[in-house]
Amino acid sequence: MFEYYTEILENLKQHSHFRNIKNFTGKDEKYIYIDSKKLINLSSNNYLGIADNKQITEEFLNYAGDKYSFGSASARLLTGSLPIYKELEQLISDLFHKECTLLFNSGYHANVGINSCIAAKGDVIFSDKLNHASIIDGMRLSESKFFRYPHNNMEALEKLLIRERKNFKNAVIVSESVFSMDGDIADIERLVELKEKYNCLLILDEAHAFGVFGKNGLGVTETLDLTDKIDLIIGTFGKAIGSMGAFATGKKILIDYLTNKSRSFIFSTSLPPINVAFSKWIIENKLPRTFEKRMNMLEIGTKAGSQSHIIPLIIGGNKETVETCEILYNNGYFTLPIRPPTVPEGTSRIRISLTTDINEKELFDAISLVKQKK
Ligand SMILES: Cc1ncc(COP(=O)(O)O)c(C=O)c1O
Repeated sequence: MFEYYTEILENLKQHSHFRNIKNFTGKDEKYIYIDSKKLINLSSNNYLGIADNKQITEEFLNYAGDKYSFGSASARLLTGSLPIYKELEQLISDLFHKECTLLFNSGYHANVGINSCIAAKGDVIFSDKLNHASIIDGMRLSESKFFRYPHNNMEALEKLLIRERKNFKNAVIVSESVFSMDGDIADIERLVELKEKYNCLLILDEAHAFGVFGKNGLGVTETLDLTDKIDLIIGTFGKAIGSMGAFATGKKILIDYLTNKSRSFIFSTSLPPINVAFSKWIIENKLPRTFEKRMNMLEIGTKAGSQSHIIPLIIGGNKETVETCEILYNNGYFTLPIRPPTVPEGTSRIRISLTTDINEKELFDAISLVKQKK
């Protein structure tokens, strides 16, 4: 049996696919430290600089005192629930003007739990080809059939709907809003039109947009004023909010269904109360003051040719991508090579993700190093 693992790992190494956990020694604001080397972190989802901000941590702990524990010791449906969970759920429902919200332990838990139970045998899910692994894993666990349409190709999705919708009872369309590895944005207006025309539910994962887009930081649907048209909006607290966990918000009937059927929700210890309190505190106290910084970050992203704060620099081969990261490293930038299976074969890349602390010059200096190598 061990020969099997050895063979797989050797193969990964030969194709520059082998991954290992880095030994970071510290993080603060836009910097990440490896031993005594200080690097600008261009690979973080800490979009608003909240996660590593010592002042914010201190301020929160002063407010929270010893009110919240570090473990819930049980699943929500058992004894792992306290008022703070409901308070955060109510806050999200109010912000999005939705009937009900359910917290999940992470975006991964949310997508696996939702996509595995939202459709049953005889139903169908239509999913963007570049949707996150957690959505794919959820669909794989589902008893429904699923189709993956070419990335953001609404014509192809409609053709698929014309061909397949009639063969199934219920149908769901699922997409990210800001795509995690490409930084482009789904055609949400068209998704809404198609969902209405072909009688489908629409699920939108705003993992990378929640806390970044929109007047109140609710995501791309807020910018487009389409929040009420989406059946389930997913957001994470682990990225812009600098905490941990996720939510799904929508109609009460859907949230009741997920509470009863979503196995990643039912069979896992709920989030630590202190984390739930932190997410709520950030959303209430810090997020409302980020508008200008967020808009500035998005403008820098646009100048670099992206539709968002995520900028993919596509290199192609795995080896060349790893080498480019090394050049950036030697020049004071921390980036990660993104390789298959995270992205399609032949499209290995450096995924730059901006934070509000990173300025235009730092970004363009890094991009020019990549261009020189190419
Ligand atoms: C689109 C998308 N959804 C969900 C997740 C998972 O979220 P979490 O890190 O909270 O598990 C990610 C993670 O990167 C993501 O990119």
